[in-house]
Amino acid sequence: MKVLVTGGAGFIGSAVIRALLSGRIARVVNLDKLTYAATPEAIEHWAEDAGYAFEQIDICDGPALRAAFADHRPDAVMHLAAESHVDRSIDDAGDFIQTNVVGTYRLLETATAYWRELEGEAAARFRFHHISTDEVYGALGAEGHFTEETPYQPNSPYSASKAASDHLVRAWNRTYGLPAVTSNCSNNYGPYQFPEKLIPLMIINALEEKPLPVYGKGENVRDWLHVEDHARALVTVLTEGRIGETYNVGGDSEERNIDVVGRICDLVDELRPRADGTSRRDLITFVADRPGHDLRYAVDSSKLRAALGWKPRETFESGLKSTVAWYLEHEAWWRGILERRYKGERLGLANPKKAG
Ligand code: NAD
Ligand code: TYD
Repeated sequence: MKVLVTGGAGFIGSAVIRALLSGRIARVVNLDKLTYAATPEAIEHWAEDAGYAFEQIDICDGPALRAAFADHRPDAVMHLAAESHVDRSIDDAGDFIQTNVVGTYRLLETATAYWRELEGEAAARFRFHHISTDEVYGALGAEGHFTEETPYQPNSPYSASKAASDHLVRAWNRTYGLPAVTSNCSNNYGPYQFPEKLIPLMIINALEEKPLPVYGKGENVRDWLHVEDHARALVTVLTEGRIGETYNVGGDSEERNIDVVGRICDLVDELRPRADGTSRRDLITFVADRPGHDLRYAVDSSKLRAALGWKPRETFESGLKSTVAWYLEHEAWWRGILERRYKGERLGLANPKKAG
């Protein structure tokens, strides 16, 4: 099998590529624009592998997409390319609409035209797997979980753009018969996550003894899943998921942000004690809340677990510990990003003029 992975130089896409190649599950064509968020180092090891090819392409570029499909003739598409950071979508939604909505439309058009030309077994085998987020369902109160039947109620420009892309994929399946499947996953963490996201930002700031900015009161809850468990779930959905279905993916690991940050402080203290022996918890700083901040996400992934037999291998405790250790060991990687692409500044405080 040959899989065309969009966004394969990103945090999750690169974990998917590592899973596909190291498990000898498929050959891979990585189609990625290489935006600020790309981390090609995460697949460096596979760059010269006979089963790996790379195309630097913007998914909004229809002719380039058509050429890539014609050249590589994939058996499946895993679509992960996206603008992925909520705070950036608050500052400027333009790239989110372009890539997540228009880009998904272009990719669907290209994949559908390509699939229609396939014959017999090749046509029957073809799959389009759209990778999305639980944030499309909106926010939960203290109780309940998102199921595949929960109505869409996105609250951020990011989640609205992902919701739009999910609807496009559904429509291309129902209207044109494109053999598509969608998965909606909770918050991921693990190696090579860009340091604008909560967990890597807090690890790095804690290490550098800088303030740890917790939005609001830190009571917002996220359901954390290790990126390699997500990658395994995605391979399972691609190879065994039913066409036209959606699958929720989650870690059953709900944590309040303040507790996540506290745990990170303790783990960094354990591995790199401060000179004066005090706890890094005293770096925690409560800052202005994110506009439209969803209170709680929690995913019911029983459909995926029961129908396809997936379950996570990491607990949040084991996964967070190895992730903190990974960031400590890969300082050169994140220092390069801090020097050139993102300095850890606060993002997403909606400009009140723009927001009206
Ligand atoms: P990321 O920001 O780390 O990586 C995105 C990748 O897409 C980058 O390599 C970037 O260069 C590429 N890209 C962006 N725009 C592109 C374009 N126009 N054309 C081609 N490539 C482009 O994102 P991630 O965290 O790895 O997320 C991957 C997917 O999973 C996204 O669709 C996201 O919505 C979804 N998701 C993420 C999470 C999470 O916790 N990170 C959870 C659930 C779902
Ligand atoms: P994030 O990693 O941006 O993921 P998402 O917004 O997609 O859930 O943020 C995770 C949670 O952490 C979210 O509730 C916002 C919060 N947060 C902070 O409190 N401080 C920070 O500096 C960041 C980046 C996030």
